[in-house]
Amino acid sequence: MSANKMTSAQIRDSFIHFFESKGHTFVRSAPVVPQDDPTLMFINAGMNQFKAIFLGDNPKGLKRACNSQKCIRVSGKHNDLDEVGRDTYHHTFFEMLGNWSFGDYYKEEAITWAWELLTEVWHLDKNRLFVSVFKDDDEAAAIWSRVSGLPDNRIMRFDEDSNFWEMGDTGPCGPCSEIHYDRGDIATQEATFADPVLGVNGTNDRYIEIWNNVFMQYERISTGELVPLKAKNVDTGMGFERVCAILQGVKSNYDTDVFSPIIQKIAEWSGVPYDQGPDGTPHRVIADHLRSISFAIADGALPSNEGRGYVLRRILRRASRFARLLGQTEPFISRLVPVLAQTVGDAFPEIKERQAFVAEVIHAEEDRFIRTLDAGLDRFDKIVAELGSAKIIPGDRVFALYDTYGFPPDLTRLLAEEKGLSTDEAGFEKSMQEQKSRARAAQKQSVNTMASEGWTTFSEVSTRFVGYDLPSCETKITRYREDKGVLSIVLETTPFYAEMGGQVGDKGTLVSKQIEIQIFDVIKVNDTIIHRGKISKGTLDESSMSAVFSASVNEELRLHLRRNHSATHLLHGALRQVLGDHVVQHGSRVAPEDLRFDFSHFSALTPEQLIQVENLVNEQVMQCLPVCTELMKLEDAKASGAIALFGEKYEEDVRMVSMSSFSKELCGGLHVSNSGQIGLFKITSESSVSAGVRRIEAVTGMGSLELLRQDSLVLSSLRDKLRCKNEMIVGRIDAAFESAKELEKNLQSAKLELSMAAAQEILTDATLIEGVSVFAKELQFEEEKFKNLLDGVQAKLDESSVAFLFNRVGDSGSIAVVASKGVQQKGLKAGDLVKQLAELAGGKGGGRPDRAQAGTRELDKMATAVSAVHDLVKEKLTK
Ligand code: SER
Repeated sequence: MSANKMTSAQIRDSFIHFFESKGHTFVRSAPVVPQDDPTLMFINAGMNQFKAIFLGDNPKGLKRACNSQKCIRVSGKHNDLDEVGRDTYHHTFFEMLGNWSFGDYYKEEAITWAWELLTEVWHLDKNRLFVSVFKDDDEAAAIWSRVSGLPDNRIMRFDEDSNFWEMGDTGPCGPCSEIHYDRGDIATQEATFADPVLGVNGTNDRYIEIWNNVFMQYERISTGELVPLKAKNVDTGMGFERVCAILQGVKSNYDTDVFSPIIQKIAEWSGVPYDQGPDGTPHRVIADHLRSISFAIADGALPSNEGRGYVLRRILRRASRFARLLGQTEPFISRLVPVLAQTVGDAFPEIKERQAFVAEVIHAEEDRFIRTLDAGLDRFDKIVAELGSAKIIPGDRVFALYDTYGFPPDLTRLLAEEKGLSTDEAGFEKSMQEQKSRARAAQKQSVNTMASEGWTTFSEVSTRFVGYDLPSCETKITRYREDKGVLSIVLETTPFYAEMGGQVGDKGTLVSKQIEIQIFDVIKVNDTIIHRGKISKGTLDESSMSAVFSASVNEELRLHLRRNHSATHLLHGALRQVLGDHVVQHGSRVAPEDLRFDFSHFSALTPEQLIQVENLVNEQVMQCLPVCTELMKLEDAKASGAIALFGEKYEEDVRMVSMSSFSKELCGGLHVSNSGQIGLFKITSESSVSAGVRRIEAVTGMGSLELLRQDSLVLSSLRDKLRCKNEMIVGRIDAAFESAKELEKNLQSAKLELSMAAAQEILTDATLIEGVSVFAKELQFEEEKFKNLLDGVQAKLDESSVAFLFNRVGDSGSIAVVASKGVQQKGLKAGDLVKQLAELAGGKGGGRPDRAQAGTRELDKMATAVSAVHDLVKEKLTK
């Protein structure tokens, strides 16, 4: 087959087959949502899933691997979200083809095979290839020279910036060697290829990096030091879309068959033809973002307001806003999901299997955004109006639009340009950085269980897990670490099950002659089971190396856990029967006390559906179905109808747990041996987690018994109190509420009557001043009564009256004024009057013109205020 005729699928396959022929094992792409690395938001390199192996944990003894890894990069030097779609070769989602050596081959083979694949299998023009090595890597330079025959001036040297690859602030790293391809005019090559702007690693995109070979030999630890790794490794990453563009002879990644079916549909459905220049930006943005959003959702992420979900929401909104530029005012991105499934569904079946759900989530999110978009445009108009004659929209405003309405800054820029304005980019960047450092500060708090520092190592053997069959065993410690009084321990053999697939870790004890350790949690970091515990007797130190420990799991807790786990599978099956096949697990937590199951579904379950689900599960329980676990090939398990979970990374050999044909799931967890052991299954709540995801919580076995016992205690005490049978309780409570309401109503009207009567008594002996009846009274009423009295006075007061009430209770006094409408018009406003009197009485207050009140603690001054009333009224009336 001639290389330039290959489809993208054939290119991917030929890479993988090439490395399989060199003894590499194909390892499926990990989901883009990281499984167990809190330092990563999305998988961003092929090596992520092998991080632990590089750091020395290689329990399966993997030597060589290859694959095409799904990656998402939304930040970084060249990958700012706002720039994607403007050029032809940066993406938020891309595939990274990779080959790895774990302490096996090194520079010689890596370079030889890279050259062989590029020039002998894919027949790339040698005159267009350039390589770079780390500045002092003479070894790699010499190999390149010998293998490729490239002249010295095309084996270029660069420093740390370009040729030393690190996964993050800490982690595996090493010098690297990149391969660049010249997409330009070869005739002008000599003049430009070493140019810092126009040449290799320059800012111009004529020379494009296609493949990075990292010679992974160090670990960067938290102090910043480089520590040599136990073995020398190779980690390579090739930009799949870029290589497709080169092999298919097109200038832009978007013109390859990876993107063209999607771009064509965007053009067809929007009626706006695709343009390879700037006018095609919306098409490119939508096509790119469709891929990252869809894969992220298919792998278990959901749009939300924080962390990963927030990034996802931003990407989706940017795509949606560009769809608007193509005239789309209805959800558009979601319609493209089946087109994507068609183009990559063979390589990544998850996108095909979950396309209905992915499309539904995107649709709901777009729908919501379209509604806020108009609000955002209003806000934009307001910001522009506030600018006055200024011509630059301040950075914090651009950020506010971004943050609150999801307005991508490049679009704000575009809207601004339409009005002859510009945006303050540096100011926006500052606001953005401030937010990022807030987010980073929050993230740093998570425990870095991946750290390989601080361990005391006794032996290198990998842990053998015996917990499926045994609750306890004899074992030795292979390594341990102490951090703030908490021990992390790795064992030679362990019965402890680590938290995984939603099932919480076992609890138990680790006991030797001298030492006792209480294990309170067990986690799995990559493939290593780490027991977390506290010492309750003795000390753990170098001398514990040969100590024999008895490791025992708390069997009672584990039995509860088994019940809940098997019940979760039955619940999953029942939900699919009652609601439909769109129900897919979205998360689960199986603990000894209860279970929680999150699943895709778009509306709340009705009470009838909940009963149906509960009944179905209990029917399976009562049928006492044997729970079978079988090890089999992934394909066979899927063919037999087993459900695979979102975002789960499965090996080729999987464990299938089934309960007759009702439930078949791929699962590594612990289960009862017969469904009858689950006991009663009882749902305790149904709620919403986010758009498209519902949650059911439930209990089983003794948990159900306890729940029912509690409920029945409450019922019996209600029966006692209400002196009735169960069926009458609700009626009695309703009646009691009714009668309480009636009593309250009566009480209010009685109070009103009383206060009216009291008011009547007080509104006597008026002094007539300029035609206004002025009442001034000194009282001693309780506070509540005084307030009621004021209500009464207000109701009784006739049109040309004003009442001044001076009340004392204990050591505090109040002055209240109530003024009728008529006297207010004459200038007697209750608020003003009270204010002036309060000043005389050493207090403070004010209020509305019809009624106002003030308080004072200086009771001896009250008399001054009382005697000032008449003069004050006169003064106001004659003004
Ligand atoms: N880890 C390196 C990269 O991401 C090579 O795979 O570029």
